[in-house]
Order: sequence, then C-alpha cells, then structure tokens
Amino acid sequence: MENSASSEAFVRFEGVQKSYDGRTLVVKDLNIDVPRGEFLTMLGPSGSGKTTSLMMLAGFETATKGDIYLNGQAINNVAPHKRGIGMVFQNYALFPHMTVAEN
Ligand SMILES: Nc1ncnc2c1ncn2[C@@H]1O[C@H](COP(=O)(O)OP(=O)(O)O)[C@@H](O)[C@H]1O
Ligand SMILES: [Mg+2]
Repeated sequence: MENSASSEAFVRFEGVQKSYDGRTLVVKDLNIDVPRGEFLTMLGPSGSGKTTSLMMLAGFETATKGDIYLNGQAINNVAPHKRGIGMVFQNYALFPHMTVAEN
C-alpha cells in the first residue's frame, strides 16, 4: 500500500474506447485506476477486450478514444519502447533457429 492516500494511480485508463473497424467498440468505456504495486487480474470471456486493453497499455495498439496514464503521464503518444513496459504474449513468438538467450 502507498503511504500517501492522495498519490495518483500508477496506471490509469480514462474513458478508453477501442474500435478496430471504426464501427464496433471492443473496449467501450474503460475507467480504471491501478495503484503502484497492485497485482491486477482481468477476468472475462474470450473476446471481451482484455488483450486489447493490455496492448493499448503497452503501446502496440492505439486507443480510439480516451487517455491512458502511466505514473501520471499521458502515454497515448509515447512509443512502446519508451514506456518501460514488458509484455508476455499469449501466443509466444520465438525464433526457432535461436537459442533461449538469443531470443
Ligand atoms: N487486431 C485485431 N483486429 C481486429 N479485431 C481484433 C483484433 N484483435 C482483437 N480483435 C477483436 O476485438 C475483440 C476483443 O478481443 P481481445 O482483446 O483479444 O479479447 P480477449 O483478450 O478478452 O479475449 C474481439 O472481438 C476480437 O475479435
Ligand atoms: Mg486475450
């Protein structure tokens, strides 16, 4: 737990929407505050937008609407490699000709 009650969320989704086709919203209005150090699990049926939400946090997908904050900074326009986020994908993509270390 943070010692300051007024400290900002470490991860914040504010009115986040996502549409891949410009018609259907696969993330409709996500508002969530995650304090630093909190372990969060998202539970929902297949296709409910869990991966899409994480992809937007990591920067591999852009939000159609709304803002995502990391440590108080809006990161909508921050490149994935500058966000300091690691992601383990559901379907791994390892190069078979490389060793574990090389991958
Ligand atoms: N790259 C994509 N292009 C188009 N539609 C996508 C893409 N990725 C996911 N979707 C669609 O968005 C919806 C949410 O998918 P997803 O975020 O993968 O859900 P979850 O991880 O909860 O199973 C699904 O309807 C899925 O078919
Ligand atoms: Mg998924």
